[in-house]
Amino acid sequence: MDNKGFELQEGLPNSIPYNHHKETYATPAQEKRNPCSLMRIFLVCFLACLVTTSIGVLILSLVYVGSVNEKASREVINREINPNPPQKQAETRYSFLNRLGKSKEYLFEGGAIRWARFRKNPQDYNNENELSFGNSISSHRSKMTVATLRILGNGLRVPHWHFNANEHGFLIQGKAWIGVVDDGANTVATFNVTVGQVLFFPMNTLHWVKCVSDEDCLFILFFTTHDELKTLDMDDAFFETPEDVASRSLKPEGGVEFIRTFKKPAADQAINLPGNLMDLVQNANYVQAADTLVWQYFYDLKGSKQFIYSGGIIQWARHRKNGAGLSDKEKIYSDSINRHSDTLTLGTLRIYSNSLRQPHFHFNAHEMGYVISGCGVVGVVGDQPVDEFSVEVGDVFFFPIGTQHYIKSTCVEDFYMILAFNTGNQLETLDMDDYFHATADHILAQLFRKKQDEFKKIPKFQDDQAVIKP
Ligand SMILES: *[C@@H]1O[C@H](CO)[C@@H](O)[C@H](O)[C@H]1NC(C)=O
Repeated sequence: MDNKGFELQEGLPNSIPYNHHKETYATPAQEKRNPCSLMRIFLVCFLACLVTTSIGVLILSLVYVGSVNEKASREVINREINPNPPQKQAETRYSFLNRLGKSKEYLFEGGAIRWARFRKNPQDYNNENELSFGNSISSHRSKMTVATLRILGNGLRVPHWHFNANEHGFLIQGKAWIGVVDDGANTVATFNVTVGQVLFFPMNTLHWVKCVSDEDCLFILFFTTHDELKTLDMDDAFFETPEDVASRSLKPEGGVEFIRTFKKPAADQAINLPGNLMDLVQNANYVQAADTLVWQYFYDLKGSKQFIYSGGIIQWARHRKNGAGLSDKEKIYSDSINRHSDTLTLGTLRIYSNSLRQPHFHFNAHEMGYVISGCGVVGVVGDQPVDEFSVEVGDVFFFPIGTQHYIKSTCVEDFYMILAFNTGNQLETLDMDDYFHATADHILAQLFRKKQDEFKKIPKFQDDQAVIKP
């Protein structure tokens, strides 16, 4: 494990009783060397005998006390699964929860970014809850990092690329004009995204995001790494290049003299918005490239098929074998995320007021979600006990692969969220009602020490019970 925070927690050296034993033993051994009478030898032997016996008794009682302690701590763990565990355990939720909407905003001239991520240097976290979340997504090897990107109207997330991650985005406010430049610039896809649509930037494709609405654009971004994200902005790449090399490559009119007219601004240009933008830009056009290009990087999640349950709606931006059930445009996206490795399945989950996404788990993916509207309560059953915790707009939750989880909607308005799963294949899921029905009732009777007939009380339904009304 490369995380020092965890190494520090590992067991204390168990050497104290051993040292005590050695010291006690040394005393009679030294006395043996004295020249002495029979009586003295007898006394020494008697004393040694006494000391050895008392050491024996001491060791026995230590072992006994040890096992009692162990039993006691096991009881503590059992008690923590109960609904009213000790208050000090509350922080375990931050292995599964990040208050992204309330975390520090990293401000730029044209917008701001917030991060729910892992940091190599623990000092780089803003508080211990963020550290707990960062360590959790890293130690589970989640292959996901979440960010929110806010761009002011006319602001630009400048052209850049990521060395170590694919990126999937979901627009929840505004309208943006996107550019993606693929290998050798053979593909230059430009298009507008509107609210409810999904973006996909494969690793190392150069891309930009220009907010073209009057209101701010707000994106939820998922990056497919749990390490620190490595990014290079186009201006930084340019200013790191020697003038003559840039001049010989770009062959501008005026040669190197022209290259020298570029001035590196003091501030990071990541999201920029020059005050004199109107003077700089004479005619901006926001064209859309051909469908075959555009739909590799773009998916209309909001316009896609709705999977309707009694308690809510799920929609998917995912890969389907042979494009089953997808429109022609959706098939292009489906093939695209399947062709690249380490892509994500995205989905929106709408849970009506007071409805429930029932307990379930995924066989083949970690899950992260971002709360867009409404509020709710989340429960996780994983490898450590954790209380139910409430989530609200701006929160990010993390369900490690295989951990059982449920989501209850607890407000008057619908609870609406964007979910990401780290698989570019079909997601595999098992719901609680399904695994109860699939387990033979005599096995349930034996497990729960209940009469077999009792299990007939758990009914089977025609409809999928994934999201259920109250
Ligand atoms: C994209 O949006 C901009 C700004 O609203 C608009 O001017 C442009 O026509 C749009 N482009 C397409 C192809 O829809």
